[in-house]
Amino acid sequence: MSGKLQRRQFVKVAGAFITTAPLGRSFRVGMSVEKLRTAHIGVGGMGGADLASISSHPQVEVAGLCDVDANRLASAHQKHKQARTFSDYRQMLSEMGDSVDAVVVSTPDHTHAPAAMSAMNLGKPVYCQKPLTHEVFEARRLNQVAQQKELATQMGIQIHSAAAYRRAKQMIQDGMIGPVSHVHAWSGKNWGYDGKAFESQSGPPANLDWDLWMGTAAMRPFVPKVYHPGSWRRLIDFGTGTLGDMGVHIFDTPYGALKLTTPHTVRTECREPTGIGHPTRNVVEYEFPGTDYTTESMIWKWYDGADAPPSAEDLALTGEFQLPESYKLPGQGSLFVGQQGVMVLPHIGEAVLFPEAKFKEQARPEVENLNHYHQWVDACMGNGKASANFSYAGPLTEALLLGVVANRFPGKTLQWDAENLKVTNLAAANQLLKTDYRKDFVVENL
Ligand SMILES: NC(=O)c1ccc[n+]([C@@H]2O[C@H](COP(=O)([O-])OP(=O)(O)OC[C@H]3O[C@@H](n4cnc5c(N)ncnc54)[C@H](O)[C@@H]3O)[C@@H](O)[C@H]2O)c1
Repeated sequence: MSGKLQRRQFVKVAGAFITTAPLGRSFRVGMSVEKLRTAHIGVGGMGGADLASISSHPQVEVAGLCDVDANRLASAHQKHKQARTFSDYRQMLSEMGDSVDAVVVSTPDHTHAPAAMSAMNLGKPVYCQKPLTHEVFEARRLNQVAQQKELATQMGIQIHSAAAYRRAKQMIQDGMIGPVSHVHAWSGKNWGYDGKAFESQSGPPANLDWDLWMGTAAMRPFVPKVYHPGSWRRLIDFGTGTLGDMGVHIFDTPYGALKLTTPHTVRTECREPTGIGHPTRNVVEYEFPGTDYTTESMIWKWYDGADAPPSAEDLALTGEFQLPESYKLPGQGSLFVGQQGVMVLPHIGEAVLFPEAKFKEQARPEVENLNHYHQWVDACMGNGKASANFSYAGPLTEALLLGVVANRFPGKTLQWDAENLKVTNLAAANQLLKTDYRKDFVVENL
């Protein structure tokens, strides 16, 4: 083990720093072990699916389970009786540091970064649900620390590893539709809330530790059906709206295929901010610098809620690139406008190319399905690299979250200085790149 990793590690529990013993095993890219002992933070909802998929790897041994909802924790424990259970991830990491090799984070978005960073501070590889973080600064830091510590990481965008998306990426990079000038992407889902502040009608249910659920965010009264489970994604303090929630899946293939980096500008058209919920409909336009697979610059435009899918006027396709009248855009997906053709990539499905006659006879690349979860387990065990690791997922998430910031300033074009992590023309927007954590939940490196 390197000297850097042998030094004593610190975890913060309930506001006090506790010194833990030097870690027994610390996993770095390229290390080889026989069993991977995992700890899971958030085991209901998608966390249950993550637990099932990761534990289906023959070399995984589930060692720790953590959830703030005792009912959800009990149901996961039923399936993994050997695992120790906790309601506080800080306590789990502090007590199990030596007997856990890798950590899975499947909580609401606002807890991704603090939980993932707490694990990485102990030298643990992390699988973290999408979007990687709730805030731009957090995405930057998770990426930096994962790279510094050489940890195997993966963001939970499992369709990234599916054959249909890998094939679409290959087709774009093979130049089938030529350099791309525009990508339109959309989701008809509505993870927004345009209403007023909530009034509390009752305290939290006995099975829920509300203080721990709130975590880094400012404390407020519990309101049934507003936060837990699942509805938090509509609210600005916890989720990232439809753009962060679905955009991270739908933007993934264009981002990866076109090798996009950081946008120059971001602009949103939506209602005025309420300070409570994300907008229920949202159109966001990004301009990216050109790459080997695009024209000189690239416009990425997002439409959600009632603004999806884009209209023929939005797409502005002309001549032989116009979509046939009989063709209906899918409810969610993306459309790439290349110099030699158009690709529609449904969420979820195989790409469709236009003009149809031109592409009918063209062979498509043979591409296999990969197991996104097992790919990360294998990477933790020293075999290969996970493809949606934080050095990919960090910049992708940063770009998406800039759109979430922009929808607090509708109609204004934000100029982005990625290197200095700064909006250069609107000081107020910089206040939203990082918010202060509640005192007891502050984490080293964030
Ligand atoms: N990749 C996908 O296809 C996909 C699909 C759905 C959700 N997700 C992502 O999974 C995450 C969870 O979403 P969900 O729909 O399951 O939400 P959810 O609210 O239904 O479930 C979250 C779980 O985490 C638990 N939890 C909350 N705070 C916690 C904390 N501080 N410590 C431990 N446990 C905590 C909750 O009790 C619950 O069991 C989100 O980031 C979401 O974006 C991904």
